[in-house]
Amino acid sequence: MSKKKKLAIHGGSPVRRTPLPPMYPGATFIDEAEQNSVKKVLESKSLFRYYGPKFLNITGEFERALSSYLGTKYVLGVNSGTSALHCALTGVGVGAEDEVIIPAYAWVSCPCAVIAAKARPVLANIDKSLTLDPKEIENKVSERTKAVMAVHIRGVGCDMDPIMKIARKYELKVVEDVAQAAGGTYHGKKLGSIGDVGTFSFQLNKIISAGEGGAVATDDPVIYERAVMLHDAGAPYRGRITSRDFIPGVNYRMNEVIAAIMIEQLKKIDKIILAMKKNKKKIKEEISDIEGIEFRHLPDPEGDTSVCLVFYLPTAEKAREFQRALHAENIYVSSGGYPPVIYDPEVFDGHVFVHWKHIFKNLDKIMSKYSQTLDILGRAVHLDISPLFTESDIESIIEGIHKVADALL
Ligand SMILES: Cc1ncc(COP(=O)(O)O)c(C=O)c1O
Repeated sequence: MSKKKKLAIHGGSPVRRTPLPPMYPGATFIDEAEQNSVKKVLESKSLFRYYGPKFLNITGEFERALSSYLGTKYVLGVNSGTSALHCALTGVGVGAEDEVIIPAYAWVSCPCAVIAAKARPVLANIDKSLTLDPKEIENKVSERTKAVMAVHIRGVGCDMDPIMKIARKYELKVVEDVAQAAGGTYHGKKLGSIGDVGTFSFQLNKIISAGEGGAVATDDPVIYERAVMLHDAGAPYRGRITSRDFIPGVNYRMNEVIAAIMIEQLKKIDKIILAMKKNKKKIKEEISDIEGIEFRHLPDPEGDTSVCLVFYLPTAEKAREFQRALHAENIYVSSGGYPPVIYDPEVFDGHVFVHWKHIFKNLDKIMSKYSQTLDILGRAVHLDISPLFTESDIESIIEGIHKVADALL
């Protein structure tokens, strides 16, 4: 390969002159199918999910399609992943005085949703999969713990077998946050169908997207009914609430335009994931001979949606140097203002708990308990894997990673 070529960061010429394709998987697959579907809803003039002058009930259709894709009995469409989390937590019975264990690497919505459900988020370390370290549940569980939030992050599912086992031992509910891994699986089961309830986001960066949107999936009729109530002002007039407890709701309803887009996006999800898997496999194979890198641990490699490739270097300093050098070679994928690194203390990123000081007032005091998380995040080099990569994009990525590794490792 390109032994000791001068790095672009040191004044050499970059491996690529042009940027890589962006990382908005679902959105970049929007075509006539979504356009026609939205047009149909607009022509019906019935944009509300429950009725209208020529009501099509596309939201109901989308909910049925997603529930059949996931293999869960119930799906409720909502307006965001954050509201889906609030509905799910309320659905499993989380409320005042309860604690919910969440990973220290997630999205800022995760602790916020716990607080919206009137409970207290408790941080737990991640492991080298970048997801919740199952061992941490036993370290964090208390008499007040009601639930664990298993956040399937950057395309990869958590290690659900040990998580479910420990959760059942302590009678905890399990909420799966599938916002970043829709379509992923764990030992053959769709993410979102393993715990008590699963939540999805259809915001712009997600594997399938309508700009905004979300969903709640469960097999449990009580969780479903509570979610319906919370999402629709208590839903007293829908005539289908059978459980006795009343949930004073807000308004998190999905509308028919979002559903019209999502029903078409869902048809494309496997194709999008397949494209990312192929791209990632090729890159990973071709860089696996590099000494000194350790790939991210995948609890179930088959189930990885392959939205990104992550490997660890021996020190955080090396990882940052490596990532900056790759950036200068134009080997990075833009995804709307997010830094190309997993963790850089200098750069704000709402996925990392150190930036949740507004939520955890005592963060400085408890920071040292999460050195495992910061060590893992700090040593991670990260590259988004767009489904739009061409053969030549992939070749340049492989060349760029080798070039930087030759110079820096
Ligand atoms: C892990 C995770 N959970 C929850 C959310 C919240 O979703 P939304 O932005 O649709 O509210 C997001 C993304 O935005 C996310 O990445």
